Amino acid sequence: MNIHTKLNHFRIASPPIDNSPIVSPIYQSAKFSFESMAEVRKFFRGQRPGYFYSRYKNPTVHELEALLAEIQGTEAGIATGSGVSAIFLTLFSLLSAGDEAIYFIESYKPTRIMFEKSFKKFGVKGIRLSLFDEAGILEACQRQQTKLIIFESPTNPQLACPNISFICQTAKEHGVTSILDNTFLAFITIIILASITISTVSQSLPMAIVTVWAV
Ligand SMILES: Cc1ncc(COP(=O)(O)O)c(C=O)c1O
Repeated sequence: MNIHTKLNHFRIASPPIDNSPIVSPIYQSAKFSFESMAEVRKFFRGQRPGYFYSRYKNPTVHELEALLAEIQGTEAGIATGSGVSAIFLTLFSLLSAGDEAIYFIESYKPTRIMFEKSFKKFGVKGIRLSLFDEAGILEACQRQQTKLIIFESPTNPQLACPNISFICQTAKEHGVTSILDNTFLAFITIIILASITISTVSQSLPMAIVTVWAV
């Protein structure tokens, strides 16, 4: 084995299972190794666990996703590189051409811009309302094309606190998905919402909480 190969493949043993580090290590590797091509094939067929490429899945990010899901009592979590990408990913995954979505005058500016400039180009219409216009929210939720409602609590920068129960209940009754951009209260809201709102208001309703973390 030449020196380059030796250096590339040098490994010290992982700690024994009963001797793990208190804080999980940060995995900085872009790629992960497999013993053989047969194992790679198994991995891609979903026949074995593992990691392949960090942009798909990375143990450190995976742990954060699992932890957030655990705290929020949800099935799964997805961590993204920034809050705006979390918002974009959520909207992009849930909306198709012809759909309409409710957003607010008080929404975070980049969220407003997504509706007023970006999604418009793909045939998605944004319905702009005030967070406190309950009649408008009800009416918009009743429209067949309305697929989702995205809001913040509290909002940035006005710190307005909407009636979360009203928004989620109304959305739920009309099959509209509620998305809460949770930036401003982060952990605190997650814990309160996990025990109150999610379990009582939106149990069987798709409700995505977009949590923006500074990491
Ligand atoms: C309400 C709200 N949503 C989303 C974001 C975006 O977060 P990021 O800067 O990580 O993209 C911010 C950032 O301040 C915010 O205040």
